[in-house]
Amino acid sequence: MQFIEYKGVFYRLLHPRPTILLITQCPNGKVNVMPASWNMPISEEPPTIGVAVYRETYTYQCLNYHPEATINVPNIDSVDLVYKLGSVSGKDVDKVREFRLELVPSDVVKVPTWKDAIAVYETRVMNRLDAGESTLFVFEVLKVKVRSGIADEWGFDFGKVNIPLHGAGRVFHKVEARKLFARR
Ligand SMILES: Cc1cc2nc3c(=O)[nH]c(=O)nc-3n(C[C@H](O)[C@H](O)[C@H](O)COP(=O)(O)O)c2cc1C
Repeated sequence: MQFIEYKGVFYRLLHPRPTILLITQCPNGKVNVMPASWNMPISEEPPTIGVAVYRETYTYQCLNYHPEATINVPNIDSVDLVYKLGSVSGKDVDKVREFRLELVPSDVVKVPTWKDAIAVYETRVMNRLDAGESTLFVFEVLKVKVRSGIADEWGFDFGKVNIPLHGAGRVFHKVEARKLFARR
């Protein structure tokens, strides 16, 4: 098979990617929620997660105001909501009120947790790096929580639960429940 030059947007070949909801504490007691599929674990010691945040977002302003966030893993059933949350800005809309998001207090950070998340990372900003129009925030993980009965030490049981993998635009993918074991 021959390689040909890819004419699409460069990152499309690195998708689909797990989408999380980044919740931040904003000025005047407001809380904001933004979906982000450009996220990844970075290190184990200490545990860190990187999220690329476009600097024009309200989330960017909120992270500058209060350097903590909760990283909320949504169920695939919430895919419409996830998409909508990424189609408007907290600069224009109070998304928590508009989308009737239920928030609950977190354990170790001031930023709340989304009640309907299936897993949550409570984090604080450890580092950041500007790249083009975005800033890569490195979040130190302070606490990890998951709903009981849907995950084991290897992660989610995709026979019981699924997560939205962002393809492009309105396209999302599901994880196939069947496990494939690589040969030793
Ligand atoms: C599925 C999905 C994934 C997204 N991933 C990112 C991302 O990783 N980084 C980013 O800056 N914006 C991402 N966006 C766009 C932001 O969510 C969008 O600009 C949002 O309106 C910003 O909200 P805010 O201004 O309230 O912070 C994504 C949008 C969607 C729908």
